[in-house]
Amino acid sequence: MRASPAALAERIERAHALDPVVRRLSDTVVRALPAGSRTDALHGVPFGQPAHPALVRLPLGCWTSAVLLDLFRGTGRASRMLIAAGVAGSAPAAATGLADWSALHTDQQRVGLAHAACQAGAATLFLGSLAARAGGRAGYGRLLSASGLAVATVGSYLGGHLALRLGAGASHAEQVSHLAGLGWHDLCGLGELPDRHPVRRQLGYLSLLVYRQGSAVNVLSDRCSHLGGPLHQGRIVVERGAACIACPWHGSTFAVADGTVVHGPATARQPSFETRVTADGRVEVRARS
Ligand code: FES
Repeated sequence: MRASPAALAERIERAHALDPVVRRLSDTVVRALPAGSRTDALHGVPFGQPAHPALVRLPLGCWTSAVLLDLFRGTGRASRMLIAAGVAGSAPAAATGLADWSALHTDQQRVGLAHAACQAGAATLFLGSLAARAGGRAGYGRLLSASGLAVATVGSYLGGHLALRLGAGASHAEQVSHLAGLGWHDLCGLGELPDRHPVRRQLGYLSLLVYRQGSAVNVLSDRCSHLGGPLHQGRIVVERGAACIACPWHGSTFAVADGTVVHGPATARQPSFETRVTADGRVEVRARS
């Protein structure tokens, strides 16, 4: 058996013993964060990408700097300020991380739980370091800081595994426009499409969501940018006066006209296609550039 960090992370992916905690915590977070603009902001919808990766830079940067400053004399005050800023910055990082985590697959949630436990442990160690320094035990405080940074580094590795290996936070539809091929492609007959009912059509090996309103046809990638859910099985809803499709898996909502994200957890626009109807009633599509 391999004894590498990746092998450890893979074991956590399959650690079913974590599932009761995962379920309970996930249910709690989902209840605490109903769909709406606040939850969308935590996911990063207004910014077009998850907010969590940007926010974790503050605690990790501050804590790393504090531990480095501890190597030099006369830097105690600066270290304390950096530790305190890192602890304060870990709150928004945790809030955004929890929001994203609550809408992941279970194997991703197991790794996310371990990641969160490490980061919470690191914040606790840094808080302990502040307390030790305030109590005049600077050497013990430095030891706690170094331990906190080590734990945060393990947690960061697991966060990287979650994002880069398991694809949490990345768009799962980005490749679609590259796979569609250049130019216009015949998709289907206009008369074959039901009115105001989302359906799936194949363009080669690409699955497309097709939504017809009268003679207007909108086409998006059927694979949800959040985690690849089948959008054609979703609900049509009207948001901001426009028809949108809500993903059946976690409720991400996209404008059918152009794939704009209306509600998260998805933050990446759904790839959309230009459409035209030929004189003999065939629907043709072309990937938007
Ligand atoms: S797969 Fe999660 S919202 Fe679509």
